[in-house]
Amino acid sequence: MDSHHHHEHQPPAGTDDAAMAGLLDLDAEVLHSYLSEMTAWVHELAGDPPTRRILDLGSGTGTGTLALLQRFAGADAIALDISPQLLQRLRDKARVAGVADRVRTVQADLDASWPAIEPVDLVWASSSLHHMADPARALAEVFAVLRPGGLLAVIEMDSFPRFLPDHLGLGRPGLEARCHAALAEAHGEELPQLGADWGSHLSRAGFTIEARRPFVIHLTPPLPAAAGRYAQASLRRARSHLDGRMSADDLATLDLLIDSDGPDGVLQRDDLTIRTTRTTWVARRPAGPSSRSRASGQLSS
Ligand SMILES: C[S@@+](CC[C@H](N)C(=O)[O-])C[C@H]1O[C@@H](n2cnc3c(N)ncnc32)[C@H](O)[C@@H]1O
Repeated sequence: MDSHHHHEHQPPAGTDDAAMAGLLDLDAEVLHSYLSEMTAWVHELAGDPPTRRILDLGSGTGTGTLALLQRFAGADAIALDISPQLLQRLRDKARVAGVADRVRTVQADLDASWPAIEPVDLVWASSSLHHMADPARALAEVFAVLRPGGLLAVIEMDSFPRFLPDHLGLGRPGLEARCHAALAEAHGEELPQLGADWGSHLSRAGFTIEARRPFVIHLTPPLPAAAGRYAQASLRRARSHLDGRMSADDLATLDLLIDSDGPDGVLQRDDLTIRTTRTTWVARRPAGPSSRSRASGQLSS
């Protein structure tokens, strides 16, 4: 099995997965309306014939899977992820939503080997492709699993969400901007594909790009009820990458923001906003015979 080098320095899978699960669920709750807009748009682009089978690649806790099952009433979904804990959470949520019989989960490390999956009409990859060690290979596999004429939706964050005003009333102004600069540096080492140009990756893999759409999210008060917890979970995750990358003063301010029950903590603040951009590319596997002879599933590289 391949070692997945970019995970080497992370805490043990269990705790990291639990924190990740909480963050993904909060993300789904707080950004619900944009997700709904996005699935409506993809549904429109998918057109005929009706979408029967969907693959959610790097499904996490099922944010995309569940939204897609709701949008595509006649479809079943395969949710694929490396994490058994996240897939368990996904199955629990599917049961609560009454769609358990329409979801199958597949646990696999896509950096190692791809499981055999029957052809699908739609592949959804939300914030997951940048985790792959070899995106070109991942896209070749996606191409092979899509029926000719099928669609791939790639959703990637332009940057992590921002929550804080420049002036917090504590510490030096501009803390969050410095956080993001330090995070970008950390991710440059751990996740070099974050912020990649997926359009050209997709073209090189043989897809036709149908559309590219940046979803610009800017929520101002009154925020959804879970906004404070979402900010806290996001900033905590950021904090775990920032040791030694920011000044002691900045880290102390950040700790106060994420730990405090007092008025300075993000759970209590009334000056939060949520700003982030998620860009979506919708690409089609051409319907005609492919010039790249992927039909046998054999990859040339
Ligand atoms: C940022 S999360 C996105 C989850 C979900 N798509 C969403 O939008 O909420 C990235 C997901 O990719 C999964 N992942 C990362 N590396 C993977 C790999 N090598 N094989 C399979 N899944 C992987 C992670 O476990 C995680 O659930």
